[in-house]
Amino acid sequence: MMIRVRDLVMRLESGGRPVTILDGVSLDVAAGEVVAVTGPSGSGKSTLLGLIAGLDTPSGGSIAVDGVDVTALGEAELARFRRRTIGFVFQSYHLIPTLTAAENVAVPLELASAAEPLPTAARLLGEVGLAERAHHYPAQLSGGEQQRVAIARAVALSPPLLLADEPTGNLDSTTGGAIVDLLLALNRERGSTLLLVTHDAALAGRAARAVALRDGRVVNGHHRA
Ligand SMILES: Nc1ncnc2c1ncn2[C@@H]1O[C@H](COP(=O)(O)OP(=O)(O)OP(=O)(O)O)[C@@H](O)[C@H]1O
Ligand SMILES: [Mg+2]
Repeated sequence: MMIRVRDLVMRLESGGRPVTILDGVSLDVAAGEVVAVTGPSGSGKSTLLGLIAGLDTPSGGSIAVDGVDVTALGEAELARFRRRTIGFVFQSYHLIPTLTAAENVAVPLELASAAEPLPTAARLLGEVGLAERAHHYPAQLSGGEQQRVAIARAVALSPPLLLADEPTGNLDSTTGGAIVDLLLALNRERGSTLLLVTHDAALAGRAARAVALRDGRVVNGHHRA
């Protein structure tokens, strides 16, 4: 199992009052599977993704990613585990504005001391259809192009798990559809697992399975044929 979440609880203080953001979420995602996470604004989708990525510590429950209990890792181990295992794609791209597209993609390769980070980054940009844009800065790229750079960066170290939080949220529906095509193609070609948060029912329908959250609880987990 790539992801095994059990009875996950997240509580925070807000204005001095406790708020329950996730209220007993359990979820299994098999290796290679594509699962969409849907639900209204505030239902806990980003919180769930962040906890799976080890970006935050839950109040209760357990999370195993690729057999590793992420809640039990120390900060340095967690950083190493994340780099090796998880690629993360954000709604707002999160590219470094002072670096070119190729340099952005090369960042995780350099952090991992990979050989030839820039040529590898250029090859990855070719895979996402941006071979001609390698030397452009983020401000010189369209939203869809920036998101493709961010995806190339997320898959640079071939992580077995790709987490994407509303990766099409800032894009028109045609461009958003192309980004989902790209994520699905990478899932097929690389055999990686994809957990995709989206508001968009049409995009969620392209995943093999959708998990709907409401008020921090799973309200379904439908399989599609
Ligand atoms: N640091 C925090 N402190 C207090 N409340 C928080 C914090 N982070 C998130 N919340 C609350 O937790 C709930 C779930 O937030 P989350 O961002 O996970 O929702 P979401 O489903 O991703 O929503 P959206 O679709 O708008 O992105 C919201 O009500 C939010 O206000
Ligand atoms: Mg969110």
